[in-house]
Amino acid sequence: MRKVNVGLIGFGTVGSGVAEALKAKRGYIKSRYNLDINLIKICDKDIISKRKVKVDSSLLTKNAYDIIDNPAVDIVIELIGGIEKAKEFILAALKKKKHVVTANKALLSIAKDELFQVAEKNGVQLHFEASVCSGIPIIKALREGLAANRIQSIYGIVNGTCNYILSEMDEKAIDFATALKQAQEKGYAESDPSLDIKGHDSAHKLAILASLCFGIDVKPKDIYTEGITDISSADIKYASGFGYAVKLLAIAKKMERELEVRVHPTLVPRNYPLASVSSNFNGVLIESDIVGETFFYGQGSGAKPTASAVISDIIDISNDIVNKKLEKFPIIVYDKQVDKIKPKKDFYCSYYIRFSAIDKPGVLASISKILADHSISIASVSQKVRSKQKVVPIIMLTHKAKELSVAEALEKIDALDAIRRKSVVIRSERSRI
Ligand SMILES: NC(=O)c1ccc[n+]([C@@H]2O[C@H](COP(=O)([O-])OP(=O)(O)OC[C@H]3O[C@@H](n4cnc5c(N)ncnc54)[C@H](OP(=O)(O)O)[C@@H]3O)[C@@H](O)[C@H]2O)c1
Repeated sequence: MRKVNVGLIGFGTVGSGVAEALKAKRGYIKSRYNLDINLIKICDKDIISKRKVKVDSSLLTKNAYDIIDNPAVDIVIELIGGIEKAKEFILAALKKKKHVVTANKALLSIAKDELFQVAEKNGVQLHFEASVCSGIPIIKALREGLAANRIQSIYGIVNGTCNYILSEMDEKAIDFATALKQAQEKGYAESDPSLDIKGHDSAHKLAILASLCFGIDVKPKDIYTEGITDISSADIKYASGFGYAVKLLAIAKKMERELEVRVHPTLVPRNYPLASVSSNFNGVLIESDIVGETFFYGQGSGAKPTASAVISDIIDISNDIVNKKLEKFPIIVYDKQVDKIKPKKDFYCSYYIRFSAIDKPGVLASISKILADHSISIASVSQKVRSKQKVVPIIMLTHKAKELSVAEALEKIDALDAIRRKSVVIRSERSRI
């Protein structure tokens, strides 16, 4: 039996989950893979507080270099999160020719190039399954299961916090602030939830997925990112009336030689698989050329689901160590399929628009004319409330149109006398998903 020694840096939520699962599954991994995964050192700033899992105190250290510089360690698991220190530790471990497993999407999304180059130069592997949708083995599916395909598009619900909030707003007709408070009470949202609710966490994950699939290095700054903070329960209700759920989608799609990458609230038809992903679950729909659509669903966060992904990476690397076939493990695995990232003005999708207009004859005609002048055609219209000379919502769904045309049309419509508030716009992906 081959013994593989691992050292863990970061003994927080995920780190404790990994230590617990490694302890519980050690016998199972031995019998199934003939591998003895041996956790020999754990580092954290705090080695006093009790954790969910009991470990021998001799394993604990406050100094990450007790792991990185330890010749007995084969694999370093980085689970401290953040950027500077995590990058320092990962680079140091790779340069010491140790394989690394990380769940750090924030770091990978901005520094993947550098990290993978250093891994390759040192002949070691850097695995990152837990960084996207933790419990869903999406990286493995893209690298291996879909290897013969060319990926055309990715539509993902990749942030459990946002999905929980939007699902609760939908199911219980509550407002954003109430749903966020509820998410925090249940442990689905951080005390500072901004990274999640402003869409940045989804952009980090999309940067990793899109780089993997389309052969170019996508960074979070390349991704148009809009969070869910402005979504109202009224819009969720109106969208529902048209047969749509509102989801925060991370979208990457190839349009000829250009890549559209965007994260924003999106109307999704209720009868599509992504609409049925509720609570804090994640779901990713991939369109590729041979298999067509594949859909992945599961827990995208939490100690156990994330530990499941981290341990899968440890087993993969361990098997490679044993079989002496440590091949290059790059972040970009598909051939270069696009030359550039499409600017926002050229996005091409359908739109939900809510106008706040005075209810008087001719308003609808004025709005429709401006839309038509900008080549935007209307798919459905609804005016739920009628109240003469009062402000009422007029809701329209458009057919596919160019983002710039919609922006220019709305500027003109919002300047009309009859329009009393800035119009609300939510993109829709109804015809491709
Ligand atoms: N939680 C999830 O569900 C989940 C899912 C997928 C991916 N991830 C990723 O997994 C990583 C860890 O997340 P987590 O939720 O487990 O975070 P966490 O609970 O905050 O745990 C991180 C631990 O590392 C410690 N730490 C920070 N800097 C350190 C340093 N320089 N040296 C030693 N220890 C240090 C922290 O101590 P202090 O608290 O004292 O700073 C904390 O105990 C992150 O990259 C995250 O994005 C998390």
